Amino acid sequence: MPAIIFEHVNFQYESQAEPTLHDINLTINAGEKVLIAGPSGSGKSTLGNLINGSIPHSIKGQVTGHIRVGKLDTQEASLFDLSLLVGTVLQDPDSQFIGLTTAEDIAFGLENDRVARPEMHQRVEQWATRLGIAAQLHQSPQELSGGQKQRDAWRVCSSMTATFSSSMNH
Ligand SMILES: Nc1ncnc2c1ncn2[C@@H]1O[C@H](COP(=O)(O)OP(=O)(O)O)[C@@H](O)[C@H]1O
Ligand SMILES: [Mg+2]
Repeated sequence: MPAIIFEHVNFQYESQAEPTLHDINLTINAGEKVLIAGPSGSGKSTLGNLINGSIPHSIKGQVTGHIRVGKLDTQEASLFDLSLLVGTVLQDPDSQFIGLTTAEDIAFGLENDRVARPEMHQRVEQWATRLGIAAQLHQSPQELSGGQKQRDAWRVCSSMTATFSSSMNH
């Protein structure tokens, strides 16, 4: 089942004279892991920002064509609705941790959703076990290596969205 679809997508930043993305057609199915590779400046982050809604919500420009994530049209959906489907792991994972431990970071989203404490503990444990990070649950994110931090941010993302996560490196 397609999870992300780009149909004839062109995108031009407001401040650019030429489009950055030309006629992008892309289907990513549920369960697929896809690497988007290309030279610096080729538009990888732009593509990611079209998936997570940063374009048009915080970055302006002109989009033509259609982009769907699940049942949502990313150009029309609210950032809130998109955030339930898309997670983004940034290049600098330090900027994404807010808790003193991995467990607190996983719990943060659940706290915001006002999940009751016993269920929250249960869900943190469940995700930690499922994602193989039970041993790191009470470790500070700052004690982890760079790669472990990125993996952890990914896992926290997965526990929140449960559907898609995109990762942005460069
Ligand atoms: N916020 C922006 N405003 C205007 N132009 C941008 C912006 N972000 C990226 N660009 C331009 O879009 C092109 C693609 O950038 P980007 O998507 O960051 O490429 P990549 O992630 O592959 O290195 C570059 O030419 C860059 O200068
Ligand atoms: Mg980039």
